Amino acid sequence: MPHKVKAVISRAKDAPVEVVDIIVPDPGPGEVIVDVLTAGVCHTDLHYKLGGIGNDYPYLLGHESTAVVSQIGENVTNVVVGDRVILNWRAVCGQCRACAKGQAQYCFNTANATQKMTLEDGTELSPALGIGSFAQKTLVAAGQCTKVDEDADAAAVGLLGCGVMAGIGAAMNTGEVKRGESVAVIGCGGVGVAAIAGAKLAGATTIIAVDLNPTKLETATQLGATHTVDSSKVDPIEAIKELTGGFGADVVIDAVGRPETYKQAFYARDLAGRVVLVGVPTPEMKLELPLLDVFGHGGSLKSSWYGDCLPSRDFPMLVEQYKQGRLDLDAFVTERIKLDEIEAAFDKMHEGTVLRSVVEL
Ligand SMILES: NC(=O)c1ccc[n+]([C@@H]2O[C@H](COP(=O)([O-])OP(=O)(O)OC[C@H]3O[C@@H](n4cnc5c(N)ncnc54)[C@H](O)[C@@H]3O)[C@@H](O)[C@H]2O)c1
Ligand SMILES: [Zn+2]
Ligand SMILES: [Zn+2]
Repeated sequence: MPHKVKAVISRAKDAPVEVVDIIVPDPGPGEVIVDVLTAGVCHTDLHYKLGGIGNDYPYLLGHESTAVVSQIGENVTNVVVGDRVILNWRAVCGQCRACAKGQAQYCFNTANATQKMTLEDGTELSPALGIGSFAQKTLVAAGQCTKVDEDADAAAVGLLGCGVMAGIGAAMNTGEVKRGESVAVIGCGGVGVAAIAGAKLAGATTIIAVDLNPTKLETATQLGATHTVDSSKVDPIEAIKELTGGFGADVVIDAVGRPETYKQAFYARDLAGRVVLVGVPTPEMKLELPLLDVFGHGGSLKSSWYGDCLPSRDFPMLVEQYKQGRLDLDAFVTERIKLDEIEAAFDKMHEGTVLRSVVEL
């Protein structure tokens, strides 16, 4: 029997989000229905709503979630009904050319549910990042469920499902931050502050937080930044160099994703340093840099999708770091809200007054 549940969709570019009833079909082979416990409001949901990712409205928003498996289809072997899971958007295929090379974090053929969830009139929904968890129930591929311990706060650990993992992984996996290194992070929203926490976990000793908003810099300090730079007042390139003996940081992470912040990251790193782009640019943005500088600075320029994570490897490990008090995921949860408060949460994100609003279902 298909299920009718409450969910939040974005119907069109200029419209506020709406709470509606959606239809979730019974799981087919390799599919799972989960009861969503919590869902963080990520900047990527706002990108979807504003048309920055595509034009496949209506979108079923939401993707940073802890959930409980409530129904499984045929051939599902990794989870059973009742399992507590964090949802992921990297269910790797094991067969594509990236997986074949042992680099499953780049899998080019990740799985989502094959069946569609719909509105009551049959209109097919596009679930954000193949998840769509601003809903009481959602349908995903079995591989999108990563089993984790039950004795951790659902709202806090659910954030590992996207933004926090993206940030931590940008530092630990993509940036390969090593102990004793210097790291600068431009943009201290949920993703940037997570990159700071990741740099700390990896053992960086100089961690510089850069933002235009002083409140964000306070949170960054709470999560591990050793220095802060208010780039609305000072030139961040000069400030980062000054804090790193005049040389620049070993790793600079752009967690904003704009040409101007990318250039700051590019010039604020040491010779042979690494730049990691984790903020998501929009289609019209262009980057112009002297090619000789790209050559002359050496090092590497990398992009980080989902923190180059492997959910099955990284989620349980980070939940354990949280339980041992080494990763303060609670600090990311600014407020707990209901499904009908998501539009207001987008406004707060825009104003910069929250790190994460988390919907409790
Ligand atoms: N690569 C991935 O896998 C991945 C995953 C999740 C989110 N993201 C992206 O990461 C980005 C950040 O997400 P978030 O949830 O942290 O967003 P957010 O809105 O919470 O945070 C953005 C932060 O950047 C700051 N900022 C804006 N312009 C700035 C500038 N010019 N200089 C310095 N700081 C500036 C803001 O004050 C804010 O603190 C978004 O683009 C989001 O789509 C990427
Ligand atoms: Zn693959
Ligand atoms: Zn996200």
